[in-house]
Amino acid sequence: MEQKITLDTLSAYAKRRGFIFQSSEIYGGFAAVYDYGHYGALLRENIKNSWIKSMLSHDEIKYLDSGIFTHPKVWKASGHVDSFVEPEIDCRTCKNRMKADQLLEPFGIMEADRLPIDEVNEHVAKLREEGKLKCSKCGGTDLTDAKKFDLLVKSNLGSPTSELTEENVVYLRGETCQGIYLNYKNYLQTMRVKLPFGIAQVGKAFRNEVVARQYIFRTREFQQAEMQLFLHPSLMNEKYEYWKEARMRWWIEELGIEKESLRFKDHEKLAHYASAAVDIEYNFRTLGAFAEVEGIHQRGDWDLSRHQEFSGENLEYFDQERNEKYIPHIMETSGGLNRMVLAVLDQGYTEETLEDGSTRLVMKIKPSLAPVKVAIFPLVKDVKLIEIAQKIKSSLQNLFVVEYDETGSIGKRYRRQDEIGTPMCITIDFDSLEDDSVTIRDRDTLEQQRVKVGSIMEQIEQRLGNS
Ligand code: GAP
Repeated sequence: MEQKITLDTLSAYAKRRGFIFQSSEIYGGFAAVYDYGHYGALLRENIKNSWIKSMLSHDEIKYLDSGIFTHPKVWKASGHVDSFVEPEIDCRTCKNRMKADQLLEPFGIMEADRLPIDEVNEHVAKLREEGKLKCSKCGGTDLTDAKKFDLLVKSNLGSPTSELTEENVVYLRGETCQGIYLNYKNYLQTMRVKLPFGIAQVGKAFRNEVVARQYIFRTREFQQAEMQLFLHPSLMNEKYEYWKEARMRWWIEELGIEKESLRFKDHEKLAHYASAAVDIEYNFRTLGAFAEVEGIHQRGDWDLSRHQEFSGENLEYFDQERNEKYIPHIMETSGGLNRMVLAVLDQGYTEETLEDGSTRLVMKIKPSLAPVKVAIFPLVKDVKLIEIAQKIKSSLQNLFVVEYDETGSIGKRYRRQDEIGTPMCITIDFDSLEDDSVTIRDRDTLEQQRVKVGSIMEQIEQRLGNS
């Protein structure tokens, strides 16, 4: 039977075990921003590298790391300055903040986030008067008018004054893909690419999320892993179908998420730039529901046309094979790295009852993604055992992240590694002095296998390769 687990349990575990901390905790915490500790950052890095590797296994995809700060006109051109806003309603009784579109939808008022704010507030006033509009948390009826929240995060970078005006405002990027569009021409000129080709990027994005109460699922600072494929419009459907399947396969095969916990969900409501879109959703135990972890979007020629219009730069492509000039269309895959981390932890968190009745907490994540690959223990603090253990540690340290631990009982040391998801523990005991062998213990099966010191490397590679 599937174990129930709450977001509180998972976040307490992630803190206790050095994965994820609330940002600025000593000052009371900073809402919707999290710091990734040693194990969390390593896990996220491993996921990121797996994503990059899978993208670059396609010859036509190149890599990019663009600036977080971009010219303010970028966000005007992209449509974010005008359209990336959300109307919110507050409850005066319990201070709960709600998205107006979600609150109004049951009354047949659809897509309130697309309506002018005055029109939204006419609906709000009428429903309030009729006593129909209720807080989603406390059921109270003392609700405010809707206010528009700007999702882009502003900064005064490069301005002598901290006051933000239309002239000096700059934005922290709200999605990483805009940096890709800005470099499309550079890649054409420097990377010897022809359409269709793609640019992949992983990096931070910032959004002034108003309702952000789901731990690292929805944060104000997060990382995206996005790939933008530039193509002729006639290839759109074929590429869209290919990438839908390719991304789902990655979630199953590379991230190790069970197929049954994933599904596609077509968008009913499209973003301002999209002409078709589908989400990959994961069934979070901690959220008790399926929720979006990645999107695959057909963006048409919206992005490059707008950047051409706003920058005055010609972004047309001359297709020699078709003898045709056109603005490339764009198909994107857009995943959230933090949601990938959350999905991996959500699925991996396992409490097992052992034969002796004790409970073992084990983080069952794919060995290739585990923050620490191998832990090395001398059975007891004996100079000769320590010497061998240190030698093994040195020989592995340049290749993998390893941990060495000589304190506490061997049982406790195993448990500690189980909790952070280390797939293998190597123990050096007194027999090792005689037979030049060590014991490798498997995190999931708890099987212990005796192997020669000379074949440790082969064993590790085999276990990681198979994972
Ligand atoms: N370029 C398209 C784009 O940004 P999106 O649906 O807004 O599309 C894509 O975001 C992905 O980024 C989402 O599927 C999600 O995984 C992640 N994401 C978006 N907002 C987020 C937030 N506030 N916190 C964490 N991840 C977020």
